[in-house]
Amino acid sequence: MSAALELRDIGVQFGQFQAVDGVSLTVNAGEVVGLIGPNGAGKTVTFNVVTGLQPSTRGQVLLGGQDVTRLAAHSRTALGLARTFQVVQLFAGMTVLENLMVAAHRHTHAGVVVDALRLPGRRRALRSAEERSRAVLAFLDLSHLADVEVTTLPVGQARLVELARALCLTPKVLLLDEPASGLDPAETADFVALLAHVRSTLGCAMLLVEHDMGVVMPLCDHVVVMDFGKVLASGPPLDVRDDPAVRAAYLGDEVA
Ligand SMILES: Nc1ncnc2c1ncn2[C@@H]1O[C@H](COP(=O)(O)OP(=O)(O)OP(=O)(O)O)[C@@H](O)[C@H]1O
Ligand SMILES: [Mg+2]
Repeated sequence: MSAALELRDIGVQFGQFQAVDGVSLTVNAGEVVGLIGPNGAGKTVTFNVVTGLQPSTRGQVLLGGQDVTRLAAHSRTALGLARTFQVVQLFAGMTVLENLMVAAHRHTHAGVVVDALRLPGRRRALRSAEERSRAVLAFLDLSHLADVEVTTLPVGQARLVELARALCLTPKVLLLDEPASGLDPAETADFVALLAHVRSTLGCAMLLVEHDMGVVMPLCDHVVVMDFGKVLASGPPLDVRDDPAVRAAYLGDEVA
């Protein structure tokens, strides 16, 4: 069976600088893979290559076995890739429910054309987007926030809403960019439990870029460590944590 997501020998060059240099990794269906490494290692650039925001200068990105290397970000979304942002990005001026409905509605494909032409399918499409959005809110225990305007939310709740919006796309692969940044330890622990719940219930594969070992260790089946644009180590979380090269490059100060 094809992997949910596969990177093959990805390279990204900015002028003379090789930011990503031959990165390969696989996320199998239902698996959670962590991408870690010190500042400037190339994690975010790699992440952006997966979403389609950053063109690679070599290598391939495959989603469910399909080569998407040359597809735009929105086409990858349509194939089951959803993401959250390192800095929360919700649609200001809209409620939580409306934020989710934008995603759910686009996903129904009735979307923009039906809306613009005021075709009969419009009302039905909106109703199904609302149903899906409310179901996701209920699943994440966030129904009480449906009518809250998003800019009034504390960061912890905004992160949950962003996760909810990504889930409205029914992703096969969920990309999470430092989902615990800005959260306090209690919120982080709740978020980890929630991601574990999402994973066990919905079974979507996840690629997680994260600094916080408290998030990576309990959640990930597999961890890939990057340093200077290359894969330094890769394996089960505990093996990677105990790898001397990894400790020297990245974990040393944190472990100490
Ligand atoms: N558009 C760009 N042009 C030139 N250099 C870039 C560009 N984007 C990133 N870089 C460089 O590529 C390297 C990798 O950056 P990247 O953002 O992927 O690091 P990171 O592993 O995400 O680090 P952090 O943990 O600090 O977020 C860095 O040296 C960065 O300065
Ligand atoms: Mg980064």
